[in-house]
Amino acid sequence: MIKISVANQKGGVGKTTIAFHLANIWTEEGKKVLCIDMDPQGNLSSSLWPKEIPGDSLISSIFEQKEPKIIEKNGIYLVASDISLSVYEKDLSLKNYFRLKSWLDPIEDFDIAIIDCPPSLGLFTINSLMASEWVIAPVDVSVYALRALTDLKNSLKELSEIEKPPSLLGIVLSSFTAHYRASKVIKEHLEEEYKGHLFSTVIPASTKIREALMLGAPVWRVKGGTANIEESFRSLAKEIMERIKTKRRK
Ligand SMILES: Nc1ncnc2c1ncn2[C@@H]1O[C@H](COP(=O)(O)OP(=O)(O)O)[C@@H](O)[C@H]1O
Ligand SMILES: [Mg+2]
Repeated sequence: MIKISVANQKGGVGKTTIAFHLANIWTEEGKKVLCIDMDPQGNLSSSLWPKEIPGDSLISSIFEQKEPKIIEKNGIYLVASDISLSVYEKDLSLKNYFRLKSWLDPIEDFDIAIIDCPPSLGLFTINSLMASEWVIAPVDVSVYALRALTDLKNSLKELSEIEKPPSLLGIVLSSFTAHYRASKVIKEHLEEEYKGHLFSTVIPASTKIREALMLGAPVWRVKGGTANIEESFRSLAKEIMERIKTKRRK
């Protein structure tokens, strides 16, 4: 199973949006995709599961020595999250950092697991990183997102002293508006500073995204959705798989 965390401690950079669209694309392609929502805000869960979430399918179960029940809608599998997860945030006993890994490691009947991280580098993100093989870090066009990226890289380095951390598969520039000067400056900085990490696909800013997530449908199923953004998500999905293949060969 390919296990990918979508992480960046800054909020609003597109983590959930990207996780949601990748899950849709790979499911459409016939892969069996498991989404794990590690954010107590539960945004990915509400997009994938608009109804009330059954109590026994919450990821918080792993902190209660229970197995969460995997639910499925439109072919996408989910272990959901809601605000009740936040109770465990401050319980920093060592065993709590490996809860997700311990639960996920023996699970074999999925092709891909996508883990949506919260906007912090706390217990839930560390659990996600420990359970993953790869990390994708979305950044938007802001200095804060860049700083958060440095923090994420440092965390990965620190974690390598305890356990084998996942590899930073790539950085993806999101909500990109080409005609802003700041966009150009940040893109150039990333190209220089994170050579080889930045995905060549850029996710453009699109007003349809908010509607898509609210409706629980990928942007190409929203009326009036533009081909441009659809193409970007598909191209990112392809680039991710190609990069994993190349890196595994090394
Ligand atoms: N490419 C995009 N274009 C326009 N708005 C976007 C884009 N990606 C995300 N958004 C919006 O930005 C907000 C934050 O995105 P989200 O994916 O939830 O970020 P995160 O999970 O990193 O906090 C949401 O309201 C979402 O609708
Ligand atoms: Mg999110």
